[in-house]
This record gives sequence, structure tokens and C-alpha cells, in this order.
Amino acid sequence: MQSTPAYIVNGGKPLNGSVKVSGAKNAATKQLVASLLTDETVVLGNVPQIGDVAATIELLRGLGVGINQSADEITINPHTIKNGDVVSAFSRKNRIPILLIGPLLHRFGEAKIPMLGGCKIGARPIDIHLDGFKQMGAQIECDGNCYTIKSKQLKAAMIELPFPSVGATENLMLAAVKAKGTTTIANAAIEPEIMDTAKLLQSMGAIINLEANRTWVIEGVKHLKGAEHQVLPDRIEAASFGIAAAITGGQVLVEGACQDHLLSFLNALRRVGVPFTIKSDGIVFGSASNYKPITLETDVHPGFMTDWQQPFVMLLTQADGVSIVHETIFEDRFGYTQSLNNMGAKIQLHSDCLGSKECRYKHQNYLHSCIIVGPTPLKASDIEIPDLRAGFSYILAALMADGRSKVTGVEHVERGYEDIIEKLKNLGADIAVA
Ligand code: UD1
Repeated sequence: MQSTPAYIVNGGKPLNGSVKVSGAKNAATKQLVASLLTDETVVLGNVPQIGDVAATIELLRGLGVGINQSADEITINPHTIKNGDVVSAFSRKNRIPILLIGPLLHRFGEAKIPMLGGCKIGARPIDIHLDGFKQMGAQIECDGNCYTIKSKQLKAAMIELPFPSVGATENLMLAAVKAKGTTTIANAAIEPEIMDTAKLLQSMGAIINLEANRTWVIEGVKHLKGAEHQVLPDRIEAASFGIAAAITGGQVLVEGACQDHLLSFLNALRRVGVPFTIKSDGIVFGSASNYKPITLETDVHPGFMTDWQQPFVMLLTQADGVSIVHETIFEDRFGYTQSLNNMGAKIQLHSDCLGSKECRYKHQNYLHSCIIVGPTPLKASDIEIPDLRAGFSYILAALMADGRSKVTGVEHVERGYEDIIEKLKNLGADIAVA
């Protein structure tokens, strides 16, 4: 996928009409990897055409996996896979390579995984992943550039995660489906994207269940078969367009937006005073002349998702009074607010936990809370996107600000949003590639 150097946005126009939400990045990329657990053909539908999917396909092709892509359908033929050495050329691009450990160990007894990339929003360690693999009997070495993980036969374990990490839950799930015995992963993540991947695994022949208290119970099987699966809609993209409607003073039907996956987001919108209506084919998001300030805390699912935080902060810059946002998932996810302040927002960062939730960053000096004073008109500006989700809020800022903004670093946003320019233009935005 070709990335483009910059977007030029002439802001101040309301977004109106309808937009179809694409398949979820955070499920599609994982499911491409899950397909390697079989020798048979896996067909994934509703796959978004985004940078992270392209990078994952490139990574799998590099391992020898046969992949055919036709619009949003991807056919994966894993039987041609050559070895378990994930070439270092793919290092630090995204966080997908680590999920290959399970599938590669089951095939080759060894996996070589490069150091990880992804958005710079905190230290993002992988200790929880590696501890889980150790409990399943794997030996792990690291030479500073690459992890070598070895196990002839992964064995089941009773794993309790110290924190419900999304990536670690998925990683251990992909390992457990073909491990010897029944694995439990307690205090695990239960995000809708993980449930969707569990559905694919079940279609492939896995025995996998979500039980009480965030516990996945997975009975290892010897063999998995091919399957067909439709990727669930992207709840982050759906929320992003909902907020775009609210802050530009428009009304947008987000087709495919699924209420089940958006409950905590919709509750927060309601408290702010953004009108929305649930329809059979999606959700209509509207706008109001006044918004109320609120206190918001991000959390693991079913709490308010950390990836909704950045567009929501944009919305809160337009609320009438003082709002507070406490980020409890990533320690360094407010860096993007500086550029918004340069555009006229009033966002102040704090290291205290400005909320009531238990947070791992208490007394640690991370700027993980913010106070937003609104409403503040934003002035058009040249802004450089620092990471994927901040990227959409910068585009929102440019759409809202009167005048011409130039947004650079758009490759970050293209990693996760399909056809963003076309989708926004169809809603009436004045946005073009520079
Ligand atoms: C995934 C999503 C990302 C989302 C995040 C939380 C993908 C590709 N990305 O990221 O969009 O924001 O879930 O919903 O699906 N942690 C550790 N040790 C570990 C693993 C994680 O300390 O071994 C910490 C992280 O540093 C972070 C927190 O746990 O502070 C959450 O991370 P995790 O849930 O693993 O997020 P990702 O899977 O990286």
C-alpha cells in the first residue's frame, strides 16, 4: 500500500451522509496469523485494506505463506510455509510478529521473532506474553535483536495474567489451541476482537470457551482445519466517525456500527449530550449546539476503550466547562495533545490519577491524566501525526478548525483506517492528498 505524504484540509464544514465501517484492524491482522495453525485454506472476508494488513500479508509471504487478495477477501494457504524465522526486515514495523510464536512453534518447534514496533504510546513490554510461554514449557532467549523461542510440544498451563493484556491473551490463545491438555488463561482480555478470533478458531476446530471472571478455557486439539470467517466491524473506526459528526455539527449514519461493541462509548456520548439513534443497519450520530463536560476513564473491555480516548478528547475540547480524562491502559498516550493546544485547545496533563479507578501508573510520574477546559475554537495549523489513533484526532481537529490545515505523518493513520480520504470526502469534508 502506497502511503501519501500529507493531507490538506479546509475545515469548518459539517459532515453529513452515511459511511460504511470497515472490518476491524485489531481482529483481521490477528486472524491472518491464526490461519497458520492449519495446513488447509482459510478465507477471511470483510478484511480492511489498510497499512497494517498489508504489512502482515508481506510478513506472512516472507515466511512462504500463499496469500490471494481480492477486494476485502483474503485467501490464506499456509501449507507452503518454509520456516519459523521471521525475517528481521520486518522488525519494529508493528506488533504482529510476536503473535506468530504459537503457530510457528506448533509447526517447527522453534520461532525467531524480531523486536516489535507499533505506536509509541508507552514502553509496551512483552513480559506477560513471554511468561505465559514459559509456563507452557517454551525456552526463550533474546540477543537484543531477536527472540528465539523453542518447544517441541507446548503443554497446557493454568496461566493468570497480571494484567488483561489484549496481545498476550491472543498470543497464548493461539498457542493453547494446539497445546497438549487444557489451558486456562485467567484475568484475560475479552475484547470483541478477541472473541471474533476465538470464533474463527472454533470454526477451524478448536475447543475454546470464555468462562466467568475473564477466563478463557482452551482444550488443545491435534489438528485444525480450514475455515471461512467474516471479520467483525471496526468499533474504533465507527466511534471515530461518530465523533466526526458531533464536532463538525453534522449527522452521519455509520453503517455496520454495532451497539454491542460500543456500549461504554455510547454511554459517554450520552453524558456529553451527543444525540445518536440505533438503526438496524448501523448507528446515526448527530450533533448539538452545546456539549456537557464529563469525567472519563479508559479501561479494558467492557470499559471505555483507550483507542477511543483521542477522538473523545477532541470532542471534550468543545464541551462547555472542565472535563477530566484518566488513561489507565497506556502510560504515555497524551503526547498528541501538545499540537492541539497549539491550535487553541486548553488541555493540561497531570501525573496524578484524576479518577477513581485503580491504575498501574499511580505515583509513577507518568502524564496519564488530563484536564480539558472548553469550549475552545481551534485555528487551522500544520500538524504532524505522531501515532495511529492520535492521527484521526488531528484530522478531526483540522476538519473542525476554520481555514486550511496541512496534516503530515499520514502513514500512521493509513495503517488503521481504510479509504479515509474518500470516506471523509463523501461526507462533505474538504480534504485532499497534497
Ligand atoms: C491492543 C491493540 C491496541 C489497544 C490495546 C488495548 C492491537 C494491534 N492493538 O494493543 O489498539 O489500544 O490492545 O486495548 O490489537 N503490557 C505489559 N506487558 C505485556 C503486554 C502488555 O506490561 O507483556 C501492558 C502494555 O504496556 C500496556 C497494557 O499492558 O500498558 C495494554 O497492552 P495490551 O493490551 O497488550 O495492548 P496491545 O495488545 O499491544
